[in-house]
Amino acid sequence: MAQRVRKAVLPVAGLGTRFLPATKAMPKEMLTVVDRPLIQYAIEECLAAGIEEFVFVTGRNKSALEDHFDAAYELEDTLVKRGKKRELKQTQEATIRPGNAIFTRQQQPLGLGHAVWCARELVGDEPFAVLLPDMLMAGEPGCLAQMVAAYHEVGGNMLAVEECDPARTDQYGIVGVGETVGKAFRITSMIEKPKPADAPSNLFINGRYILQPEIFALLGEHRRGVGNEIQLTDAMIALAAKQPFYGFRYHGRTYDCGSKAGLVQANVALALGRSDIAPAVADEMRNLLTRYGSREDEVPRPA
Ligand code: UTP
Repeated sequence: MAQRVRKAVLPVAGLGTRFLPATKAMPKEMLTVVDRPLIQYAIEECLAAGIEEFVFVTGRNKSALEDHFDAAYELEDTLVKRGKKRELKQTQEATIRPGNAIFTRQQQPLGLGHAVWCARELVGDEPFAVLLPDMLMAGEPGCLAQMVAAYHEVGGNMLAVEECDPARTDQYGIVGVGETVGKAFRITSMIEKPKPADAPSNLFINGRYILQPEIFALLGEHRRGVGNEIQLTDAMIALAAKQPFYGFRYHGRTYDCGSKAGLVQANVALALGRSDIAPAVADEMRNLLTRYGSREDEVPRPA
């Protein structure tokens, strides 16, 4: 029986350069989709999967993240006095139980692999989940809950994957597909951003991982990979020589909110799922589609 996954690592120390100046004074993970910051969607996904402890690997400007999951006494008191019960509930839902959120600093943005390594002492010797909060998963049940169910059958290391346009494999980490095992499949290879001709499939690693603690020793070698960064994929490839890696096909839709287009798409998609604002949003979309949808030449193109 696979050991239970109790802890999640949330790397939130990236510079978020694609969103400057929005990310000048706050982390990318505080960008909002409708009315919640990206990081809150990731925490809710964790809670639905039975995660109990959260390790945030932060960089500059971490205070907004810490404050978001803290109690907000003055605000809550004001909401009580004004009788705003719904708003109070929404505010309180954004807190994490005392002692269950741990913050550590990456100090230098040396890459995702380095960020995960920074959590080694806080995770210890047990399997753990990694979630990239800028990858927003829409769909029920959440991606991590689906993965945890599959992981309990097979153990090992598990990566959630999703299909991408075969012409765009060079934007993702891509896996090779082996035999089916339970609800998952054996991963035969992992390649970071392969050209379509070199890609073993069109299944990309979508930002949710369940890893065994042996990954930390490999990350600790601090080998530089693509972009001169310490890459998580490189350590996973090394670990795959010793332990099984399984791919889990996520049944849902991932929005890459680390890109501007992805964040806007996620906002539109989630807004259309919300009865309070969907009619207004849909109205404006119809107006815009009348203008741009029929006249391809009117859609602004990059200069
Ligand atoms: P990205 O590759 O999206 O990089 O990181 P970034 O720096 O956040 O954003 P851009 O490309 O400059 O716009 C993927 C995830 O890994 C974390 C990020 O916070 C994000 O969750 N990360 C990345 C770190 O925690 N540390 C790093 O050194 C790099």
